[in-house]
Amino acid sequence: MVTGLTEEKRVRALAAVGCRWIGKSIAVGGVGLLLASNPLWAAAGDAPESRVQARQIFGVLPPNAATAERPMPEARVNLGRMLYFDPRLSLGQDISCNSCHRLDLYGVDGEPTSPGHRGQRGGRNSPTSLNAALHVAQFWDGREPDVEAQAKGPVLNPIEMAMPSEEAVVAVLASIPGYPPLFTAAFPGESDPLNYENMARAIGSFERGLITPSPFDGFMAGEEDRLSPQAVEGLELFLSVGCVSCHNGPLVGGTTYRKLGLIKAYPTEDKGKENVTGLPEDRFVFKVPSLRNVAQTGPWFHDGSIQSLDQAILVMGRHQLGVELDATQRAQIGAFLESLTGRVDPAFVAEPELPENGPNTPGPDRS
Ligand code: HEC
Ligand code: HEC
Repeated sequence: MVTGLTEEKRVRALAAVGCRWIGKSIAVGGVGLLLASNPLWAAAGDAPESRVQARQIFGVLPPNAATAERPMPEARVNLGRMLYFDPRLSLGQDISCNSCHRLDLYGVDGEPTSPGHRGQRGGRNSPTSLNAALHVAQFWDGREPDVEAQAKGPVLNPIEMAMPSEEAVVAVLASIPGYPPLFTAAFPGESDPLNYENMARAIGSFERGLITPSPFDGFMAGEEDRLSPQAVEGLELFLSVGCVSCHNGPLVGGTTYRKLGLIKAYPTEDKGKENVTGLPEDRFVFKVPSLRNVAQTGPWFHDGSIQSLDQAILVMGRHQLGVELDATQRAQIGAFLESLTGRVDPAFVAEPELPENGPNTPGPDRS
């Protein structure tokens, strides 16, 4: 229903939804729906009403993030999975994408900031790789447009995987006898398929399959018992207090950028999007994170400074909305957020067997 709108209009419409929920009416894109007076739902009580509203507001999670431009042919996905798990993409040959975005740990490593090459740590928390392909852009500040562009960064980042150059990465891959035929199969028709760009495209293809349907999706599709009464209360609060004005779309976030500390300043030295654009109005602006699996991806916030989900909810209410949520309300919202915990088909994320070194494959450099 909201998909035909421009992004800006959509966010405004959704903000309106958050505010008007109390009046039990919603206005999306100018179309007013008085659900409480709709006999279909009024007769059935509160739960179906929140379910129908939720589906209209959040939309349906797609099974994967493939697009016409960014398809997911099987050979490419399989190669991407290997590359995602392969520590030989790092200088020390001890760090893979999966070290910081562990697919057995909801796409994170549970650390405030992650140890990279020789244990060095950056200033930001590793966000989950799950569902990231559906975000409006990548990174806390949105500085890369998609997962394919993003995947080129960490391999060469000196405090992450620390490879010296694209050529060095390609040389390692070319020295492993199993990889050249896999690149040929993944990029048929290309004369020189083993290159840095295609490494990133393959990893991106794999990441486009990391989508996690959860009990909340079952609930929106009509399986009402997938949410506890407490979680339904939490959903209603999430809509009525206005969390949804920022955390919207099928990922319950990931659609837009907003200032951290909108109502009450939040202490952080990270200037967020201002670092990317140089614009003062972008100071402390971050991508609104998806809340899919958020109960499992602590510690929270861009700097990993928040230790519990309860604290994250409290701070969000106070600093983004100017409301003090009490313990009962926070527990209700927490129960709703728990219902966003889902998983990828275990076979899709199972650690693959990696091709063996060849005679010319370099060894680890941890100097
Ligand atoms: C040493 C830890 C580390 C390694 C290794 C690493 N990442 Fe990350 N990743 C991070 C951190 C930290 C961020 C956030 C940085 C920022 O926003 O400035 C991030 C961000 C991302 C994002 C953006 C998600 C979002 O919500 O915006 C994706 C996707 C991602 N990484 C995938 C990968 C892939 C693919 C690899 C392997 C090629 C990889 N990462 C290797 C730590 C790591
Ligand atoms: C004005 C926009 C806005 C509103 C309203 C808002 N949020 Fe957020 N939320 C954000 C931004 C931006 C972040 C990223 C914060 C950061 O940079 O660390 C965030 C982060 C979070 C996180 C941490 C995610 C993570 O992976 O670390 C949770 C949980 C969260 N919000 C829940 C809520 C809840 C619950 C509400 C309603 C009480 C809410 N938010 C209201 C913008 C908003």
